[in-house]
Formats: sequence, C-alpha cells, structure tokens
Amino acid sequence: MTTRKILVTSALPYANGSIHLGHLVEYIQTDIWVRFQKMQGNEAHYVCADDTHGTPIMLRAEKEGITPEQLIARVWQEHYDDFSEFHVEFDHYGSTNSNETRESAEAIYRTLRDKNLIEVRSIEQYYDPVKNMFLPDRFIKGECPKCGAKDQYGDNCEACGAAYAPTELIAPYSAVSGAKPELRNSDHYFFKLSADSCQQFLRNWTRSGALQTEAANKMQEWLGIEGENKLSDWDISRDAPYFGFEIPDAPGKYFYVWLDAPVGYMGSFKQLCNKLTHPNPPNPPIPPLSGGSQSGRETDTPPLARGGWEGLFDEFWKAGSKTELYHFIGKDILYFHALFWPAMLEHAGFRTPTKLFAHGFLTVNGEKMSKSRGTFITARSYVDHIKNTEYLRYYYAAKLNGSMEDHDHNLDDFVTKVNSDLIGKYINIASRCAGFIAKRFDGKLGNTDTAASAEFQTAFTGGEIARCYENRDFSRALREIMRLADVANQYIAEKKPWELAKQEGKDAELLEVCSTALTLFRDLTRYLKPVLPKLAAQVEAFLNIPPMVWNDKWAALSSGHVINTYQHLATRLDPKLVEAMVAANQESLQPQPQSEQRHAAHQQHTASIEVAQAEKDFEPFISIEDFAKVDLRVAKIVNAEQVEGAAKLLKLTLDIGEGNLRTVFAGIKSAYDPENLKGRLTVMVANLAPRKMKFGLSEGMVLAASGEASGLFILSPDDGAQPGMRIK
Ligand code: MSP
Ligand code: ZN
Repeated sequence: MTTRKILVTSALPYANGSIHLGHLVEYIQTDIWVRFQKMQGNEAHYVCADDTHGTPIMLRAEKEGITPEQLIARVWQEHYDDFSEFHVEFDHYGSTNSNETRESAEAIYRTLRDKNLIEVRSIEQYYDPVKNMFLPDRFIKGECPKCGAKDQYGDNCEACGAAYAPTELIAPYSAVSGAKPELRNSDHYFFKLSADSCQQFLRNWTRSGALQTEAANKMQEWLGIEGENKLSDWDISRDAPYFGFEIPDAPGKYFYVWLDAPVGYMGSFKQLCNKLTHPNPPNPPIPPLSGGSQSGRETDTPPLARGGWEGLFDEFWKAGSKTELYHFIGKDILYFHALFWPAMLEHAGFRTPTKLFAHGFLTVNGEKMSKSRGTFITARSYVDHIKNTEYLRYYYAAKLNGSMEDHDHNLDDFVTKVNSDLIGKYINIASRCAGFIAKRFDGKLGNTDTAASAEFQTAFTGGEIARCYENRDFSRALREIMRLADVANQYIAEKKPWELAKQEGKDAELLEVCSTALTLFRDLTRYLKPVLPKLAAQVEAFLNIPPMVWNDKWAALSSGHVINTYQHLATRLDPKLVEAMVAANQESLQPQPQSEQRHAAHQQHTASIEVAQAEKDFEPFISIEDFAKVDLRVAKIVNAEQVEGAAKLLKLTLDIGEGNLRTVFAGIKSAYDPENLKGRLTVMVANLAPRKMKFGLSEGMVLAASGEASGLFILSPDDGAQPGMRIK
C-alpha cells in the first residue's frame, strides 16, 4: 500500500467566543478522521488556527479595555486548552494573525491584482459618525422593511426571515454607538469573481467531485446555468479602523477577514513545516503575534529559515500537487470555501482542495442551543461537570455519517448510549475478565480458545470498519464495532468465567476464556482508538502492549504475556452530572458571545458577526415586589474550604444570624484562596431553594460579580454591617 500524503483542516474558530458543543461536532469529527489516517500509516497533517481579524474582535477588545492582540492571545490559549481537553490533536494550531498568513495573503492578493482580477470601486455604505467608522451590516439595526419588527440586523430579519440590504432598514441606528448612521462613499477593493475565467473555473470545479452532492447542487444554484453569470464581485477590503492586515498598496484599507481566514490554513501549515524541518528543540505551539499587526511585523517566532520547510510547503500547496487537501467545515461557510477560496487558489497558482467535507448543525434536545434552556453548553462547562470528554467523542461518532444533515444531541440518549454501548458492551468485557488474570494467574495470559479464535478471526478483519471511517460514516463504523462487541459478550456469557472461577479444576478453562476475551477486547480497542484515543492508551498500558496501529495482524496476545492490574477504565455516566451541567448553564447569566443565532446559508457578503452579545446588556424591568422576593442577607464566612473533586467550587459555611449555620457551595474557587475568605462578610441570597449537589446540600448563594474580562469578585458590605442584616 502506498502512503498517502494528506493535509486536513477544520474551520478556524473565531477568536471572540468560547468553543461550544456545536463547534466540537467539527473538531472531533476531523480529529477522528485524522487519527484513523495516521493509524493507517498515512502521512497526515492536521492544522487549524484561530480566526482573529475583523470588526467584532476589534470592538470586543475595546470594550474589555485591552488590545486586540491581547484578546486574541488570551482566547487562543482558551481554545487550545479546550481542544486538548477533548483530545483534538492538531499537528499545529496557529493564528491568522501571523507573519506566515500575512505573507501568503499578500502574495495571493498581488498575483490576483497582476492578473487584473482586482478592481477598485467606490461604494456607498453606512457610517457611524460618532464612532467614526463604517458599519458592517450586522452592526446596523432598525425596523424590518418587510414586517416592521424592531431591532433587526442590517442583513436579515429574525422575525420574518426576510433578507435585505442595510439601506432598506427603517429608522436605522448603529449597534455600536446608537447613532443614526450616514451614507458615505469609500473606495473598496473587489475580487472579480464575475470574470469569465472565474465563473468557468468554478462551474467546472464545483462539479469535479470535490463537493458532496448536496453541496454541489447548492453551488449550481448560486452559479446559475451556463452563460448566466450570477456571481457578483467579492468585496475584499474594509476601511480603517479595522483589526487585520493592511492591503499592501492601499494604505488605510484592510483585507476583509474572510480574505485572510482561509489563507490561515496555509499560514498554519507553513508554521508546521517549520516545526517539522526544525525539530530540535521541539517547538511549543506558536501563539498569535504579540506585536501590533497593523503597525509592524515584529513577531515572537524567529523568521522561517529559507530552505527546508519550503519544499514541504510547496509539495502540499503548489498547483499540480499530488497530495490530498481536505477541509472540514460547517454548511454555513460552504459559500466561502466552495467559491471564493478555490477561485483565489486557482488564480494565484495554488492547488485547489481535493474535497470539502461539510457537516450539518448541532441541535440540543431537538432545538437550537439555547441559554435559557441551559443547552448552550461550552466545552469548558462540559469538562467541569462531566469531565470524561471521550463520552462526547463516542456520542458524536455514533451520530456522524458524513452527510450535511443536522444532528441532534439528545441529552438522555447521550447518557443511554454511553452507558449501554460504551460501558455495557465494551468496557464490561475487560472488567469481567481482567480481575481473574491478576488474582488467579499472576497477571499472566494463557493460550486462547482456538475454536473460538478462528471464528473471531474471520469476524474481526476490520475492513468494513476501515471503509466506514474513510467515508466519515462513523456511526456505521461504531455499529459494526458494537456488533463485534456483542459477539465477544456472547462468548463470555456462554463460558461464564465467574462460574468457572468457583469450580474446582477449571483453572485452565478460566484462563483460556479470559485470555481470549482480552484479545478480543484489544482488537475492539484498536477499532475504537480513533474515537477514544485516551482510553486506548490506557488499555495499551493495561495490556502492556505497544501503541496499536490499524493493520496490526490479528494475533492473540501470546501465552505468558504479562498484563498489568486492571484499573477501571471508565465508569457509567451519571445522568445527574448532565442535569447539573444544564442547571449550571441555566443559572449562569454570563453572556456567551458565540453565534447563538447563526444564519445557515447566504452569508456571502457579511461575516457572521457575533454582535449579539454586545447589546445583551440588561435584563428587563421588574417591579419592586419582584425584587422584594429575593431575601438578601449580610453573611459572615465562618469557614471556607476546598471541595474534593470539584473543579470550581468552594464550600462556605455562613452565619446569617439565624442560630444555625448555612452551607453554600460557591463557584469561586478560581478566584479565591479559602484562607483569605474566612471571617469576611459578604452577601447571600437566603431564600434560594436549597439544591442538592453532588457534594452535599447547598442552602443559598453568595453574590459575585463577573464580566467578560477575567476575574470573579464577591461582594462585601461596608464596615459596620452585621451578619443577618437584610439588603433592600
Ligand atoms: N471563522 C469562521 C471560519 C473560518 S474558516 C477559514 C467561522 N468560525 S466559527 O467559530 O463560527 O465556526 C467554526 C466552525 O464551527 C464552522 O465550521 C462552523 O460551521 C462550526 N460550527 C459552529 N457552530 C456549530 C453548530 N452548532 N453545529 C455544528 N457546527 C457548528 O465560521
Ligand atoms: Zn421582518
């Protein structure tokens, strides 16, 4: 078999929000596929990066009182850590705000310009006279011209679904300053997609097999029939102030974020090439530039040495490359990847993607993720509550079939599937047999059951499973694997090792059954390894075997092979943890910036800008009677202590002057050392219904302030306040 050379990407997440379960559909999916390719012995590289430019990031940094560079450096670390928790293992995770991405973006731009594919035209656009900036469509609000709904965005109405131009809005206002926007002219740079060469190329390319059928059909709609040049030119520039790369020959004009975003795939790969060709000392992941991207080119990373990395880079990116390039993306960004990106690549002398793998959107419990229902679940809150991230990997894999369909994360089904399949069928094989090997046979395996092995050997070829993985039909791969697990379980059920263990003179048989079962377990693990990499590593350690690759010959673990003591590999998923996660999300009023409302298709000329959060400032008015229902009291923190096994909580003992003390579990561990809290006064909600938590009963809540900037601050009354005093 020849080794394939494969470069794989996932879409670059925006650097202005947290990674959530929706994103993870994509990153976990890609990671599984890449791990499978690597297990096959292929040369696969998986790169990604943060998508760091654009107006929302600029404004968000401003709001937080930090520079965009500081913001993106912080978010980069958060994203990187989140992905690591979910075992999404990039070969390189970069940033679009890198010299490598800038160089490639500039080079592509220059080539397009020299080929007469760039045109400058003056356009009229809304301008915020208070903020002194042009406003992207999503930063203009007003009444929907169709249905009259108030406070609708400049591109489409969330009430009636109408799409329109921002100039059609009635009574428009700037979502940034509230000012009435003015129409002003400005020169913009356009990529001439309407040129015959572009349209012809795209017509062919989108039919060439690089797209899923569904996607190809969509593209034909957008392109129109032969001769009907439906594509309009693409506006690739934005005026200052803008956080991004300045266009080389156009001071004050910046590349629109979607111009350099996909170029980030190249930039990140360039950095990987540098790492691979300069392996010593091993480079840490390269965080975004700390220097100002608008002002200079200073960088933390040494400039790439000429030679070495370029060969590898060219091998993957030059026109005519023999390597494979795959982009995993959500269906919402198909337009950018199936039209703009290949057209840019083609006309700038690069290869085009081998295939785009577009996937659908995630819903939770049948609905769009929602904060009020507690189903807008961030990667972080999943980790805090459920911890075992391989449960999610398993569940997603069981759902994914390589199509563009949306898929639902039903939280009950999640628990059932994990417990019945993963634990009940797979883990159980080991937990039922391993103990006997340790206890009765000094950890030494014996011969396997030859009759049974012959049968298993035919069943366990893995060819079908490999085909399913290759086609990204992970759900089918898992069904097949679980079918094999059934076969193994049936064998164990027939042989009943727990009964053999009680009978005199059955030692040899017991050893044989357990050795056979563990061999099957080893093979099931091998097939599950792309999905469950951490568990597989634990199994390898337990079985005392080297890391498994796909084509390990089916061979019994040899007689006399010593395995390690079995330590439980995974426990059942307690539905209470899922409930607690949802409850915690419901309770936390922290605004989540990411795209709660995404617009499925046509986003071609607007970034999907997550401005939503900028306005979501205050809750609606309530009456004084409503407020009076909340019994707030001054509380003395009599004791504060760590809670074993809790990532976020401290256990507080509070005196509110009622004789007995109250226990409250407060999510303030990240911000306070318990020692410093003892003796302090704070404010608590005394009449919050007690809640049973994993660690005990919580009888109230202490108040703390938090915002988008990091930090958590509990409240203190002024000097003189006494425990028990009411706050009103
Ligand atoms: N920054 C752009 C991509 C630039 S690629 C050159 C972007 N970022 S994003 O953070 O909004 O989304 C990143 C990826 O996550 C996209 O492919 C998007 O489709 C995917 N998802 C975001 N929310 C999702 C769901 N709810 N469900 C499934 N995938 C989702 O788009
Ligand atoms: Zn409307």
